[in-house]
Amino acid sequence: MAEILLGVTGGVAAYKSLDVLRILQRQGHGVSVVMTHTAERFVGSASFAALSGREVGTHLFGDSDQPGYHHLDVNDGKDLMLVAPASANTISQMASGGATSLLTSCYLAFRGPVVVAPAMNTSMWLHPATARNIETLRRDGAHIIEPESGLLADGAVGPGRLAEPAAIVAAVETALGAPGGVRDMEGLSVLISAGGTREPIDAVRYVGNRSSGRMGWALAAAARDRGAEVTMVQANVDLPREAGIRYVDAPTAAAMRDACRAEFPACDVLIMCAAVADYRPVAAADGKLDKSRADAITVEMERTTDVLAELSAMRGGQVLVGFAAEHGPEGLDRARAKRVRKAVDIVVHNDAAVPGAAFEGPENVITIIGPGDDEASLPRMTKRECAEHILDAARSLVGAGPVGTS
Ligand SMILES: Cc1cc2nc3c(=O)[nH]c(=O)nc-3n(C[C@H](O)[C@H](O)[C@H](O)COP(=O)(O)O)c2cc1C
Repeated sequence: MAEILLGVTGGVAAYKSLDVLRILQRQGHGVSVVMTHTAERFVGSASFAALSGREVGTHLFGDSDQPGYHHLDVNDGKDLMLVAPASANTISQMASGGATSLLTSCYLAFRGPVVVAPAMNTSMWLHPATARNIETLRRDGAHIIEPESGLLADGAVGPGRLAEPAAIVAAVETALGAPGGVRDMEGLSVLISAGGTREPIDAVRYVGNRSSGRMGWALAAAARDRGAEVTMVQANVDLPREAGIRYVDAPTAAAMRDACRAEFPACDVLIMCAAVADYRPVAAADGKLDKSRADAITVEMERTTDVLAELSAMRGGQVLVGFAAEHGPEGLDRARAKRVRKAVDIVVHNDAAVPGAAFEGPENVITIIGPGDDEASLPRMTKRECAEHILDAARSLVGAGPVGTS
């Protein structure tokens, strides 16, 4: 069971944190509490101390009455930090890297997953500054539990009410990994690429593809929940970033190649899920191409480097998984040939001609092609379910040595 650091800030909903604490304890977790000074105006630290059975941290600098909780101790044995309720003020400090309170200092120092449950009145929640700060926290990897809509303390009705304590605890469990779920990837480092690269034609136009990054996102979350350390090299994905995953931005095929080459030596499992351009314009025009200069233009394209084949040639003991987004019934044979040609262990075939499969949607229809005759065609399922099957196949090959060409 996990050790949780619960941060409580100054809002009417602070009393609900006592419920959150109790439910976390009922689930078997240990909970330590840090509070802002304003939070203490709403609920006394004695309540949290009594329920948690631990001293509550409120002061950045300890004194004889209040020994203080050293913010740099936050990484000692803590598995997750939860801020609930998170005030607009604390959210703003967290987003900008401010560290004037014990709570925000802990946030800056903490290296594990962070879950944030905002609560405030509707105007504060809808203010563009708060929206910006929330987006920043998401991009920094925090998991945001959206507030609910309902009757607020000021009598108004609208979004801003703290999510139910049970929902907050459920989000904590998800960020920690499903309770009792398989943690069979602990100690493994998994490198995943996702999204679609964009190859510039000029300063404002590009050649791109329809990849949304959803399959890679599902793989990253599943690998994290199974205990892996996950690095995501992502190209132009517009999905919320998740806690407990490290993100590296790589918008073009060239950037994807550089990022993957840099990250590859340290990984145990590589899953190349990104749709990397096969061709790119030989040269991007300076500025914006002027349409009044010609009725038609020709953009000369050149081949990009095949990142998966290149990594395969430099592999040590890594397990390599490639994706083949094919179109039409002959695609399966092409995917089988791709596995052998690129000397990778597994190729996941998905058919872009099947409605609702491959790109953009929440579901996929895949065939996992492994070494030898190992091949599994799966029915339509969510991308998260597909991800679990792919990880099962990859996990079974860890330590088996390169088997790509067998
Ligand atoms: C009665 C009262 C209720 C408040 N409720 C909230 C709230 O629900 N959410 C919020 O963001 N701020 C609320 N505030 C404002 C915060 O307490 C204030 O911004 C404070 O600086 C937050 O400090 P902290 O982030 O360090 O806890 C409230 C203030 C008062 C006086």
